[in-house]
Amino acid sequence: DLLDIGVIGLGVMGKNLALNIADNRYRVAAFDLDSTKRDALLEQEQKERPALQAQRILGCSNLSEMLSSLAKPRVLVLSVPAGAPVDGVCNALLEAGIEQDDIVVDTGNSLWTDTVAREAQYQDKFIFFSCAISGGEMGARFGPSLMPSGDIKAWDRIKPIWEAIAAKVDPKTGLPIERQEPGNPVTEGEPCTTYIGPAGAGHYVKMVHNGIEYADMQLICEAYQLLSDGLGLSAAEVGKIFARWNQGSLNSYLMEISADVLSQADPLTGKPLVEMILDKAGQKGTGLWTAVSSLQIGCPAPTIAEAVYARAVSTQKHQRQQLSLLLAGPEALTLSDDERAAFIDELENALYCAKIACYAQGFQLMAMNAQERGWRLDFAEIAKIWRAGCIIRATFLQSITQAYQQAQRAGESLDNLLMAETFSLALSAKQQDWRRAVARAIMSGVPVPCIGSALAYYDSYRSETLPANLLQGQRDFFGAHTFERIDMPAGEKYHLNWSHSERTLEKL
Ligand code: 6PG
Repeated sequence: DLLDIGVIGLGVMGKNLALNIADNRYRVAAFDLDSTKRDALLEQEQKERPALQAQRILGCSNLSEMLSSLAKPRVLVLSVPAGAPVDGVCNALLEAGIEQDDIVVDTGNSLWTDTVAREAQYQDKFIFFSCAISGGEMGARFGPSLMPSGDIKAWDRIKPIWEAIAAKVDPKTGLPIERQEPGNPVTEGEPCTTYIGPAGAGHYVKMVHNGIEYADMQLICEAYQLLSDGLGLSAAEVGKIFARWNQGSLNSYLMEISADVLSQADPLTGKPLVEMILDKAGQKGTGLWTAVSSLQIGCPAPTIAEAVYARAVSTQKHQRQQLSLLLAGPEALTLSDDERAAFIDELENALYCAKIACYAQGFQLMAMNAQERGWRLDFAEIAKIWRAGCIIRATFLQSITQAYQQAQRAGESLDNLLMAETFSLALSAKQQDWRRAVARAIMSGVPVPCIGSALAYYDSYRSETLPANLLQGQRDFFGAHTFERIDMPAGEKYHLNWSHSERTLEKL
């Protein structure tokens, strides 16, 4: 009696995935180099599953045992840290006798180019497939957003399992169907998984998801600092404002958890917990990769890059301490009660506008990289599978889904989300508040790298002309880099002999 699927690596994500798969009536073989993790999973299953139901997870002591317990072609899910451990497990599977039509699914946050290379490297030995996952531990347990890519035949084989374990969206409202009960998975609704494209595409899309995640988190943090340092509100008061914003267009999982974090008291001191957390942010690399990719392909994603820099500045605590004593800042703003109330409303609008700009950057980046790689990404589908399960889930993703669907129906390509009517109208209506919020931030000395860079992105894209004419003049001056003229056909190059006494124009 052979099992349906193997899970290798039983850390938080692997363990929860295994339990989720088992909840959906598939039988799982589970392995971890650390046998205590395997035992913890089996114990957890026993605790969760009603006494009379059969256990659906089998603990394996080694990979050979796992391979012989699985139905062929085998499906093996890797939940190990990105990088060398993925190759480590692949090699161990080769030694254990994995076969050519077996499928290995890498679910970690692997660098997308590594995934492309691995598919080629293992192609004669087994099918290397990938499925990026978002949603953290609770997502893995009760329904994540899944971004599979690679060999389409492998997708056909695993699709039913993936659709079963994914988060679900109510098709009528576009909202997540939330249920977090062991043994009682959500079986109705639209699953948050879709085949993304060839090898690497899924990991690229997940990488950009994380870049957006970084920016979205930082935007909320900037609003927090403006409200606390700028207006002098307590953490709990800011938490209440965020909870209120979460009822409107800013509704998102990240806003919801931010409100929760801000209202949490520290069990040790009774003070707001957030004030006891050291202000140094960590990162594991996906936001950085997104920023690097945007620079490499020349796609403007300043808000995502600024979010990565914001984490970097945060880690320079010592220098910040020294410079806080050295460098002058503006005087504190004195605001009337009416002005304070107005500021809070402006900030809400500013955040919404900045959020649109940040998603516009992420989607444009995916589009440009897809074009370079020859991938045909379906952005309506990508937005759809981010509506539930993943960290950036938000009602806003339903608007993005609809914007792409509308463009598809009209046979148009939506080159930039700023062009979608729903967003261009909102931006035009709210941009004045956005400016006022940024101006107040600047005048009160609170750094807003993401809210501010998003505004610069917006203003750059709505400028038909930019000062790059002068820039090309500078380049031509010192390096004879040539320029095109507005009154001549595109592509024709000109150079002025800047260093000659008589400056003449040359056509190249
Ligand atoms: C998700 C998260 C997840 C993880 C990131 C966080 O979508 O579920 O993005 O993948 O939490 O690795 O990244 P940092 O550690 O870099 O903040």
